[in-house]
Amino acid sequence: MKEELEKIREECQASLGLARTEPEISDIRVNVLGRKGSLTQLLKRLGTLPEDERREIGRRANEIKEDLEARVEECLRCIQEQERTEALEREKIDVTLPGRRMILGRKHPLTQTLDEIIHIFSRLGFEVVEGPEVELDYYNFEALNIPKGHPAREMQATFFISDDVVLRTHTSPVQVRTMEKKRPPVRVICPGAVYRCDSDPTHSPMFHQVEGLLVDRGITFSDLKGILTVFVHQMFGKETKLRFRPSFFPFTEPSAEIDIECFICGGKGCGVCSGTGWLEILGSGMVDPAVYRFVDYDPEEVTGFAFGMGIERIAMLKYGINDIRLFFTNDLRFLKQF
Ligand code: FA5
Ligand code: MG
Repeated sequence: MKEELEKIREECQASLGLARTEPEISDIRVNVLGRKGSLTQLLKRLGTLPEDERREIGRRANEIKEDLEARVEECLRCIQEQERTEALEREKIDVTLPGRRMILGRKHPLTQTLDEIIHIFSRLGFEVVEGPEVELDYYNFEALNIPKGHPAREMQATFFISDDVVLRTHTSPVQVRTMEKKRPPVRVICPGAVYRCDSDPTHSPMFHQVEGLLVDRGITFSDLKGILTVFVHQMFGKETKLRFRPSFFPFTEPSAEIDIECFICGGKGCGVCSGTGWLEILGSGMVDPAVYRFVDYDPEEVTGFAFGMGIERIAMLKYGINDIRLFFTNDLRFLKQF
């Protein structure tokens, strides 16, 4: 039994030396030290030995058992240690690597331009209001002093939804809707999309306007000139030259269009300004008394002015863009420049 005992010890030590994984070591533990393990079985048979041999082999067997248990624990600890080291190596993070850049979206150039226009007018006390894009003929034309059959209707090529419903051709109908709801003083701007049957490098079938309306007691053409001059200087810079050119709109009298000096040729005359040295940016005028009658304002008591500008045209002038269609084709190479 003594040799048997030593053999168990040797074999167990040898296989522990070869074991590389936790399950392998567990197997060895079970096969030797488990309830049915070889050493446990041997210890059970001690009782059959004579007294003196039993004591000697018993002591030796207990030594070996303790020793093997310690070795098994040690092997397990080693393997766990090694696995932890390997895992740390595998999962190592290089904190010095450059970070991954987030791609940020940005505002469309037209939105940026509109934000700027709104910012300028809100500091002048104007409030933002909106109106519908699908509009009644009454608001788009009739109440703006453009009766059915009047030649002024030809000024804007119109998309008709039905006899009495159109896609609004300008933001001016919001003037009428605002005055219907509110008594003077009125000081609003009305941004939004408008539609005309137009398409070329400077005309888009859908484009955007900002309307302005100011009505109160004692408003004169000087107020119109003052406010719009401040606007042009803030939008395009203090040095920008502008002129008020007499014009005609059925809903304003007198009317004027504002031109700014051509940014390409500096006023000398070139292809962009058709040789005139000037570029139109907006239409404006004193609200025609005929319009006040539709909204029950008394033209003897109040006066006011209105204006309307194309947001695309303002953005084209500000950023030197030569084709209006660039705003709507969503080409990232274009959009990323703003
Ligand atoms: C009007 O639409 C008037 N409602 C403006 C107005 C308002 C005058 C209040 C008086 C009082 P007009 O048709 O000129 O006017 O258009 C105004 C601006 O819209 C033009 O100066 C131009 O900048 C822009 N615009 C006109 N048609 C187009 C188009 N197809 N594409 C892009 N911009 C356009
Ligand atoms: Mg015009």
